Amino acid sequence: MPSYPLTRPRRLRTHGWIRSMVAENVLTPADFIWPVFVIEGEGKREAVASMPGVDRLSIDLLVEAAREAASLGIPALALFPVVTAEFKSEDGREAWRADNLMHRAIAAVKKAVPDIGLVCDVALDPYTTHGHDGLMEGDEIVNDASVDALVKMALAQARAGADVIAPSDMMDGRIAAIRTALEQERFFNTKIMAYSAKYASAFYGPFRDALGNKSALKGDKRTYQMDPANSDEAIREVELDLEEGADMVMVKPGLPYLDIVRRVKDSFGVPTFAYHVSGEYAMVKAAGQLGWLDADRAMAECLMAFKRAGADGILTYAAMDLARKIAGR
Ligand code: PBG
Repeated sequence: MPSYPLTRPRRLRTHGWIRSMVAENVLTPADFIWPVFVIEGEGKREAVASMPGVDRLSIDLLVEAAREAASLGIPALALFPVVTAEFKSEDGREAWRADNLMHRAIAAVKKAVPDIGLVCDVALDPYTTHGHDGLMEGDEIVNDASVDALVKMALAQARAGADVIAPSDMMDGRIAAIRTALEQERFFNTKIMAYSAKYASAFYGPFRDALGNKSALKGDKRTYQMDPANSDEAIREVELDLEEGADMVMVKPGLPYLDIVRRVKDSFGVPTFAYHVSGEYAMVKAAGQLGWLDADRAMAECLMAFKRAGADGILTYAAMDLARKIAGR
């Protein structure tokens, strides 16, 4: 490359038209998967205190929101049921009850808005009294019995109409077990988006608040979620999940782990998603409320960073807001 003054990089930054002409990445609603918290009842909307702008929605309002999301070009929702104490147990059996809140929500959205995809989280934490993603024996979160439970959960979701099964539990071998069970029940087209590199992160705080199980969690999740110190291990986890039958992989959290997103994308070239998690969203919103930064601009900048890192899609609570802005609504 010739040097200054033959080359002046600022020539390509003088006006909006030229900046957009040379922009390497764009953010569109098709990049977003919108996570939504679902509650029992009708016409119910509850704000999540630690996530300004995020509401828990009853199924009827979820259906309306799904309709708007589809009209904005958001391809999929990720559903998270808020499970009340009476439905929680040691073994989380509510997770595979045919008529549970999650399954009713899936069926209702699929019926009313068939064109939006539904990504369904598979992990026992909303349903267990101890708040862990797997089953406990004493103080241990046991692997293989947990996988058996997760298979039941995934199959129940597929029967209810789930398009994408998204195991977020980090048990070993769960992708192969779920894939085999789906094939046996002839769910040939049910997709698996594996939370492959999911870290034991402090950034999940507001999410646990939204589900109401923050205080319930016994201990922490460090025996199954990954150590934030590790990067090579993420590559091994992704490789295993792909070998076991995952169609798509995910890295979580997002912003502090964009190095992992880039490594995964470059190493495997498979559809790679990243989760802009609750704490990342809350930080921007909180600083915005304090007047410390422009939250809208900061949020859009964060999401663009995921694209730059190589993500094919982003799970983000800001999806609707941003999609509305992009559409000029
Ligand atoms: C459940 C699950 C969690 C999140 C998504 N699925 C919480 C956890 O692992 O404790 C967090 C999402 C967020 O913080 O936005 N296993």
